[in-house]
Amino acid sequence: MIKINDNFTRLSASYLFSDIARKVSEFTAAHPDTSVIRMGIGDVTRPICPAAIDAMHQAVEHEARSETFCGYGPEQGYGFLRQAIAEHDYRQHGIDIDSDEIFISDGAKSDTGNIGDILSTGCKVAVTDPVYPVYVDTNVMAGRAGALRPDGRRDNIEYLTCTEDNGFIPDLPRTSPDIIYLCYPNNPTGTALTRSQLAVWIDYALSHGSLLLFDSAYEAYITDSDVPHSIYEISGARECAIEFRSFSKTAGFTGVRCGYTVVPRSLTGISSSGERIPLHTLWLRRQSTKFNGASYISQRAAEALYTPQGRKQVTDTISYYAENAALLRQSLSNAGLSVYGGINSPYLWVKTPGAASSWDFFNTLLHRCHIVGTPGSGFGPSGEGYLRLTAFSSHEATAEAARRITSML
Ligand code: MLT
Repeated sequence: MIKINDNFTRLSASYLFSDIARKVSEFTAAHPDTSVIRMGIGDVTRPICPAAIDAMHQAVEHEARSETFCGYGPEQGYGFLRQAIAEHDYRQHGIDIDSDEIFISDGAKSDTGNIGDILSTGCKVAVTDPVYPVYVDTNVMAGRAGALRPDGRRDNIEYLTCTEDNGFIPDLPRTSPDIIYLCYPNNPTGTALTRSQLAVWIDYALSHGSLLLFDSAYEAYITDSDVPHSIYEISGARECAIEFRSFSKTAGFTGVRCGYTVVPRSLTGISSSGERIPLHTLWLRRQSTKFNGASYISQRAAEALYTPQGRKQVTDTISYYAENAALLRQSLSNAGLSVYGGINSPYLWVKTPGAASSWDFFNTLLHRCHIVGTPGSGFGPSGEGYLRLTAFSSHEATAEAARRITSML
């Protein structure tokens, strides 16, 4: 008999966004003539910028000639991209990160899911609630999460509640977790933490020996100057934090796939025999064994985002989505809804009207407005009573969605 990993049987039957996709397909099959506006999963709609497209064309040409053909690349990424990242995302901002502390990958989802490979299955975990489901589900798969309780929480995970009542600012943990996942600007609430608020977490992690897994996939949307783009802007982070970044929401790479993870050399963990081991060594070993690197073509595309043209084109796309977020936020607030996020983030976190449940409001929006959102309860128990909308549609679709929702209320 084939013995399976029992932990997989402890997961909910399907991944949140797969569930929603199925409900939307059923709806569109039953109502083929409706024009559905998709503001559910955070997928972008603007085309990839010309600088990256040109770079991909050139990279394809390299692959077509024996003199320039690239086979397997370095598992941790090509030097040309790691150096561009170290220079533009870190050194130019006065942040001390070296190119060999940067690991290129196929995106932040994979890396935030895979990082648990190098950590003990006995580690205690804390997550904000609501939370990006990958952090919880991958810990269920690894056997760290414990049993599912009737309130939707897992026995061995500490949930740090983020609701209107605390301004979506999580309290520090009570259980002294070994691993703490923070995603800021936050998915799903769209809220951000300032430099001084994040410094509190660095102090906590350093004094409790915790590891911060900092998902910074939405940093390109930051507009407030007191919100840091990188956790390493805060002193002490090199000793307690791993940072994950992605080109998906920044440059439309949701399909192309490219992101990176920063593991500082000064960050260590402890083995069961009490020896201090650099996490960098373990992650390099893990990646070189289980991963063959992001494709040469996507890495050349990512490199082009750091050229002057690439940077300008990316900024224009981010501004486009930011205009959508501002329009949605304004129109829904004017119509009487409580709306959070959408300022340093492409996500808006909307309180459901009339105390409707998240799924009821999801169904109302789908059936009456033909708009797809993401029910807040899908992100955790404290998401109940909220719904997430994305600003990733076109201007026209965003304006139309705002019109449909406000005229329904
Ligand atoms: C989301 O909608 O939360 C994200 O698009 C999911 C992801 O990046 O994997």
